[in-house]
Amino acid sequence: MVKYKFPEGFLWGTATASHQIEGDNFYNDWWEFEKQGKVKNGQVSGKACDSWNRYEEDFDLIEKLNNNAYRFSIEWSRIEPEEGRFDESALERYRSMLISLRRRNIEPFVTLHHFTNPLWMAKRGGWLNPDIIDYYLRYVKKIVSEFKDLVNYWMTINEPNAYAFMAYLYGQFPPQGKSLIKMLRVLNNMAKAHAKAYEVIHQISPDAKVSIAYNVIYFEPKNPNSFIDRKFANFGDRIYNRVFIETLLTGKFSSPFIKEEIPYAKNTLDYLGINYYTRILMGLKMGSPEGETSDFGWEIYPEGIYKVVKRFYGLTKKPIYITENGISDAKDEKRPKYLISHLIQLHRAIEEGVDVRGYFHWSLMDNFEWAEGFLQRFGLFETDFNTFERKWRESARIYSEIAKNNGITEAMEEKFLK
Ligand code: NOJ
Repeated sequence: MVKYKFPEGFLWGTATASHQIEGDNFYNDWWEFEKQGKVKNGQVSGKACDSWNRYEEDFDLIEKLNNNAYRFSIEWSRIEPEEGRFDESALERYRSMLISLRRRNIEPFVTLHHFTNPLWMAKRGGWLNPDIIDYYLRYVKKIVSEFKDLVNYWMTINEPNAYAFMAYLYGQFPPQGKSLIKMLRVLNNMAKAHAKAYEVIHQISPDAKVSIAYNVIYFEPKNPNSFIDRKFANFGDRIYNRVFIETLLTGKFSSPFIKEEIPYAKNTLDYLGINYYTRILMGLKMGSPEGETSDFGWEIYPEGIYKVVKRFYGLTKKPIYITENGISDAKDEKRPKYLISHLIQLHRAIEEGVDVRGYFHWSLMDNFEWAEGFLQRFGLFETDFNTFERKWRESARIYSEIAKNNGITEAMEEKFLK
């Protein structure tokens, strides 16, 4: 018996990103970064999952998962390998992908920017250079004009907050910046780019639904009784979880160093895409997570998805799609429980009135996990990176059953949670 039934028409999907799965993305800043040996163990994305050639095979798997949606990204550097030159064959390939998804009744959710930049743009200063906004818009116009007949759901930028943090403060992504001010300037440019893209997409495709995929971390003070720990948690929450999204709600970019009125950014979300993975305990002694962790060391904290969804629904009043949620777990020992427990918490939020309309598991298959290379395995399917074979993990079977039932059975809960 299905104990946790999801609303009718709920979208079940997986999520991927171009550079992580396609292979041979020669013309972006990551390819360059990898060549310089900056990724763990000197790995390079190389052929990745070879999905540029094997996308039909990927879509077969999506069908076998009984999914009715799929989130993937279009690679700007493929479309525009040199400034102003648009590659028709790349556009054709993405068109074939979209047609194939439609034929299979799989709703595409398309991300327009997922961490990578064309090398020519990176050389001009990337997201620190405000000129990127116009270049990005020209690319967005091109894509949306081409594919407006095939795409209803767009995400302008994936995880602007995680990107700005990793590339400009934490220094793990190119161009390895280590400055809070730079991070905030990048966030500010991304907010403007999103807001303008929102308008442009609606001009070309008035009924389209436009959002971002926003990474939300559940921050808590390590010691709730400590004033300092609470300050740290609040600071993390403000910079990471709030500055960007509030700009899209209010038209005000309000961060510690940069404050700016951006009136055209106000009300530029049709829905909210949330990527949720973990909780971080903040404090003077950052210490270790309290619960079980993934291979990545991230705490497994299912209640966080409930709390985050409730809070952001309260804030935005927009339909919510979980555009990513998943775990690095090569042996697939913890994933079944992770998946089911997070979905039960999501269901709890839905029961309490939150308008959640879909869930995309990260990821369809193991892929190139950025600075970690191929070390972290997030796939429902295991990828053999020599033969490109995709192998079923138990979690994939479980997920296909969940999607088929549009919910979680009591037996499943008993088996994996108790
Ligand atoms: C968020 C990013 O969007 C995705 O690219 C990444 O692989 C996953 N999180 C896991 O870290």
